[in-house]
Amino acid sequence: MRYQAPKGVSEYYPPRSRSFEWVRQCLLAPIQRAGYQLLELPVFEDTELFTRGVGASTDVVNKEMYTFEDRGSRSITLRPEGTVGALRSVIEHGLDKGSLPAKFYYSGAFFRAERPQAGRYRQFYSVGIEAVGTDDPAIDAEVIAIADAGFRNIGLKQFHLEITSLGDRESRAAHRIDLKKFIAQLSLDEATRNRAEINPLRLFDDKREEVRSAMKAAPVLLDYLSHESKTHFEAVQKYLKVLNIDYVVNPRMVRGLDYYTGTTFEFVHDLLGAQSGIGGGGRYDGLMEEIGGSALTGIGFGLGVDRALLAAEAEGVVDQSAFLGDLCIIPLGDEAKSLALQIAHELRSVSVSVEIAFGDRSVKSGMKSADKSGVKYVIVLGEEELQSGAAELKEMSTGEATSVTLSSLVPTLVTTLTGK
Ligand code: HAM
Repeated sequence: MRYQAPKGVSEYYPPRSRSFEWVRQCLLAPIQRAGYQLLELPVFEDTELFTRGVGASTDVVNKEMYTFEDRGSRSITLRPEGTVGALRSVIEHGLDKGSLPAKFYYSGAFFRAERPQAGRYRQFYSVGIEAVGTDDPAIDAEVIAIADAGFRNIGLKQFHLEITSLGDRESRAAHRIDLKKFIAQLSLDEATRNRAEINPLRLFDDKREEVRSAMKAAPVLLDYLSHESKTHFEAVQKYLKVLNIDYVVNPRMVRGLDYYTGTTFEFVHDLLGAQSGIGGGGRYDGLMEEIGGSALTGIGFGLGVDRALLAAEAEGVVDQSAFLGDLCIIPLGDEAKSLALQIAHELRSVSVSVEIAFGDRSVKSGMKSADKSGVKYVIVLGEEELQSGAAELKEMSTGEATSVTLSSLVPTLVTTLTGK
């Protein structure tokens, strides 16, 4: 029996797993520099949390949740997204009781039973942030800027940012009346009508050509913004300009989750075809209350690590040297092996990454695997080296070899590799 991973999951193994980890760290760095704190969250939660929080009109809740009964007959769901779990944690542990905004990040696997295709997986990886407790439009711009900085950190250039505002309750109520009137005169099947009943905005997201073209004449929310929502959205745009972040306003943007209000945004990559959304997010005023918390507002994003990697590969910007080892020691004989273990231990303690070619290999076979693993330097420790007290440090990229005394090996390597 040859087992295979379940259909549609993303899986990373060397050498590509190095690129994956590099992409994830590129996305995380600007988040950590902006004072967001780690939330390490469970990958499953009570099903009701998601049905309430994500929303009953969404595909995510209706078709895509991995839901099962646990041994205690509780309904459990693998997290399809991070926001409601993060807010559940904030509420449960009173993390919103200190100074506000409270700012958190998380990273990990998410699960949606979607039809798998390039860039769309049933288990995928996302990095997300949530800032809870302020409706200052400047934080909207900062949240967008942090995502943008992550993508730029990778070296991505061929993407654009779309923004819109879904307004406050008053704006949405006014728009809903006209949108429902508009939808009523369309000829739609029962299921679509029911969906529109729960959230008429969903029809802007319909993939069928006839619905898409009918919706072109539909009233858009942006034209119904209350004075307050309009002022907020204008302020966000002002700050984005201050930050030199280009954007287009897309009044027909619909996010796949029901909790959004006010500012919403999506980063779209130009080379990824159908699954081009590399990140997105927005405000969710009302969500905290909906799931049992206080009446605090919030904003956040989720960035797709899998898709950001595909985008980096499409643009040819993956840093191939990321996470490659610094040194491989090839020991010949028992005495050399002991010395190799000592040297490796000492070097690792000063942050040099070292591998040893274990298994009593020949120089040739050791060199071959060192070459394959992509280390920067190789050193062979044989009888001759132990006797003379000196060895050749070979730089793999140039083939150049320099003689180093074994007693000064550690400081020499530290200087060579770290420049310290
Ligand atoms: P989302 O747009 O549903 O937002 O997901 C975030 C990102 O995850 C997407 O932009 C996309 O890159 C990636 N993604 C989603 N589904 C898949 C999939 N099946 N396969 C591969 N990648 C995928 C959220 O989840 C919100 N929680 C973001 C947020 C946080 N909004 C406010 N705070």
